[in-house]
Amino acid sequence: MSYDTILVDVADGIATLTVNRPDKRNALNAAVRREIVQALDALRDDDAARVLVLTGAGDRAFVAGADIAEFEARTPVQQRESMEGGGVFEALAVFPRPTIAMIRGYALGGGCELALACDIRVAAPSARLGQPEIRLGLLPGGGGTQRLPRLVGYGQALRLILTGEPIDAAEALRIGLVDLLVEEAELEARTRALAAAMAAHSSLALRLAKEALRASQEMPLSAGLRYERELFITAFSSEDRAEGVRAFLEKRQPEFRGR
Ligand code: COA
Repeated sequence: MSYDTILVDVADGIATLTVNRPDKRNALNAAVRREIVQALDALRDDDAARVLVLTGAGDRAFVAGADIAEFEARTPVQQRESMEGGGVFEALAVFPRPTIAMIRGYALGGGCELALACDIRVAAPSARLGQPEIRLGLLPGGGGTQRLPRLVGYGQALRLILTGEPIDAAEALRIGLVDLLVEEAELEARTRALAAAMAAHSSLALRLAKEALRASQEMPLSAGLRYERELFITAFSSEDRAEGVRAFLEKRQPEFRGR
């Protein structure tokens, strides 16, 4: 499939999805949103893409937020339609494979929310993250008020959302908004190494582990523990579990098939 506003590359078990509007700091317009959702749909069942890396083109921005130019002419009804079902943010959050946001430069507003909808965030020192919507008389609408406090705590989320002020990469690491901070020159290689360390495993086990972890954010502990056991038994009944155990006992590398 070919796209106008994003690039999709699949190699070595890793899909890289790059938002490609560097002259607009990769701002999320309707086309970008639509194409990301289409790409996620196309990649969902592609076992050649066991881990997804999301990034922005150029060195200035991951994604500098919703395309503000589109706000001017849009009616509230059109805006509501564009947000139906959580749109691109929900599509990313429920994507069944591990997702990594690779962040250099600005990740603001919807850009920060895209990173929040990923499983892991890796940043370079140039990263600047924040939720500046309040400056436009708005509030985050892509999950920021819900995912940010779950990740960094209520107080830090309030500070970021109510001041609208971005924070630098070191502070983002300190409060848990990014998980890894690596030198600019190493960002690509370190992110790929992280993705490769996951892509080597059973895609079925990865999927189930992610599902169990996601449940921890939504369920009470007792229900989450029950759910984890169900998913464990599903993994236990898989061909990959049989292969993984056999390979360990035979002292060789497993050959997983995602079944
Ligand atoms: N929506 C639409 N266009 C955007 C954009 C956005 N969110 N962010 C950047 N752009 C555009 C600029 O309008 C400019 O376009 P132009 O060259 O046609 O004038 C181009 O991208 C470069 O932006 P510029 O501001 O010159 O780059 P910078 O590196 O000096 O600053 C930012 C980068 C991200 C700090 C600044 O562009 C900004 O504050 N953007 C808005 C961030 C925001 O509020 N996001 C949340 C939206 S709800």
